[in-house]
Amino acid sequence: MPSIDLTGKAAVVTGSGRGLGLAYAHALAAHGASVVVNDVDEAVAEAAVKSITEAGGTAVAEVVPVGTTEAAERLVNRAVEEFGRLDILVTNAGILRDKVLWKMTDEDFDAVITTHLKGTFTCARAAAVRMREQGEGGSLILVGSPAGQRGNFGQTNYAAAKAGIAAFARTWSMELGRANITVNAIVPVAATAMTETIPAFAPYIEAMKNGEPLPDFLRKGEGFGTPEDCAALVPFLASEAARGITGQAIGIGGDKVALWSHPQEIAAAYADGGWTPDTLAHVWPTSVGAELQSVGIPAPKFPEA
Ligand SMILES: NC(=O)c1ccc[n+]([C@@H]2O[C@H](COP(=O)([O-])OP(=O)(O)OC[C@H]3O[C@@H](n4cnc5c(N)ncnc54)[C@H](O)[C@@H]3O)[C@@H](O)[C@H]2O)c1
Repeated sequence: MPSIDLTGKAAVVTGSGRGLGLAYAHALAAHGASVVVNDVDEAVAEAAVKSITEAGGTAVAEVVPVGTTEAAERLVNRAVEEFGRLDILVTNAGILRDKVLWKMTDEDFDAVITTHLKGTFTCARAAAVRMREQGEGGSLILVGSPAGQRGNFGQTNYAAAKAGIAAFARTWSMELGRANITVNAIVPVAATAMTETIPAFAPYIEAMKNGEPLPDFLRKGEGFGTPEDCAALVPFLASEAARGITGQAIGIGGDKVALWSHPQEIAAAYADGGWTPDTLAHVWPTSVGAELQSVGIPAPKFPEA
């Protein structure tokens, strides 16, 4: 079995004061990387640095809201000032402002798009500039979501941002391949502040907090577990063992790791000289219309009572 060693490498993890980002920062540090912890919340960022340091790792905090070029440059510069380099970027910072389309305000839309989509773009751009200058490759680990892969009720802003992030990974993997910079989107599912409000999961999360293990139907069936369960994927993708992996969307959670497909044509029909509305209506049900796709994240399958 290869042993993952990130000694000498430097990482930036956005939104790593709590939740999944904190678990990613811990996992990177535990495997030898030096970490710039970022969050908007200074108290959790400082606490994260303290806990990483106490566990024997190396970390510093940079408190700034991601979403602007200035914030992205501050994060990359901090890694270079403190650790002399940047090898790994995890764009994890995120917020939710859920509402159905007809109730969603411009502010709801802009806040989510700025943090997730523009935050990922600006941080990845600043990191790519630095990594290309270094000339030693690197790893961009972007954070997607099942909502972005499948769509989700009430998440216009979030689903669009996360779908865009998966598209970033495909696009940047092509642009940065020659520089040996891998770019992947991870699709985590875990019990965090963001998910513990999902009513169906709430009793299980409560039990987990009281020291009970999550049941198999969640850990395996739903691929749902703790942030630490998701964190293993990050040092792996940042390591030499994953140099050949790029442009992928990789699901992780509970006991499960999964590869997502990318969108592709799955059915086609042809009309000599092109289609008319009438010929489309005629042929549709027996051709491409027979392959209509489902949308949404499948509802959790609870065991029979
Ligand atoms: N929890 C899940 O199951 C799940 C599923 C799919 C995707 N995700 C994604 O994983 C990431 C982390 O989610 P989480 O569940 O750990 O959330 P969380 O709310 O527990 O943690 C997010 C952290 O990001 C910070 N943050 C928010 N806006 C920021 C900004 N502009 N700049 C810097 N920091 C900022 C918050 O202060 C917080 O500490 C998000 O991108 C989320 O969309 C989570």
